[in-house]
Amino acid sequence: MVYMAEINEIIVLGVDVGGTGIKSALVNLENGELVSERIAIETPKPASPNGIFDVMSTVCEQLNWKGPIGCGFPAVVKNGVTLTAANVSPEWIGFDALQVLRKMTPGKVGIVNDADAAGLAEMRFGAGKPYYREGGGTVLMITLGTGIGSGLFVEGHLHPNTELGHIEIDGYDAEDRAATVVREKERLSWPEWGARVNRYFQTLEFLLNPDVFIVGGGVSAASEKFFPYIHVKTRLLAAQLHNDAGIIGAALAVGWCDRQ
Ligand code: BGC
Repeated sequence: MVYMAEINEIIVLGVDVGGTGIKSALVNLENGELVSERIAIETPKPASPNGIFDVMSTVCEQLNWKGPIGCGFPAVVKNGVTLTAANVSPEWIGFDALQVLRKMTPGKVGIVNDADAAGLAEMRFGAGKPYYREGGGTVLMITLGTGIGSGLFVEGHLHPNTELGHIEIDGYDAEDRAATVVREKERLSWPEWGARVNRYFQTLEFLLNPDVFIVGGGVSAASEKFFPYIHVKTRLLAAQLHNDAGIIGAALAVGWCDRQ
């Protein structure tokens, strides 16, 4: 439990909106640590703006929070407007999410794509730390979850809103073959799913030639189960913050949006 008196500028509520769940916690931006309980609530169906903002209000009430809120959202997000909706309700297309967030709190707010958020967190506090600088090369963060998300960093700078989970491979949208939910739905063995993930990473390598891949999403905690099936020349790293990367990165979105 965090008391209002202890809260200052560096504590931000990070909300990681996913197609399956909404995960939130208060985050210390200085060290990336969670400083409250972690609240996980199922994504409402339909995953409409009303439903999702209701969940956020519940989280704020539960934490008695009136400070800054950063949000990672599973869509292209430009200037606070969500522009796509692969795994959420189509009502989000062209929706000014930043305006609604502003009404929720007197504090600062920010909203970015969820994989960009996870990438920001890994670059700042996790596996990407050595590369988060001028001369750090090209790092491609890929999150495997309900969908596949991507966060591309070039010389320590984020190129936002890449949608590399939707590249077409063998006639399929890549995330329809290789996302984590597909492994669960189709009950694929690790080698079966690993082969699909391998095809995906080999295609990314062929097209983009990054220096480093960081693989995120909850499944990154079990990287030893599928990394042996991924055969790429590019350095392949498991995310270090696993599922928390989304929450920590969402909190970082507040500062990142400010700089835009
Ligand atoms: C969405 C991306 C998102 C990814 C991971 C994809 O379906 O198009 O914007 O980053 O899922 O949630």
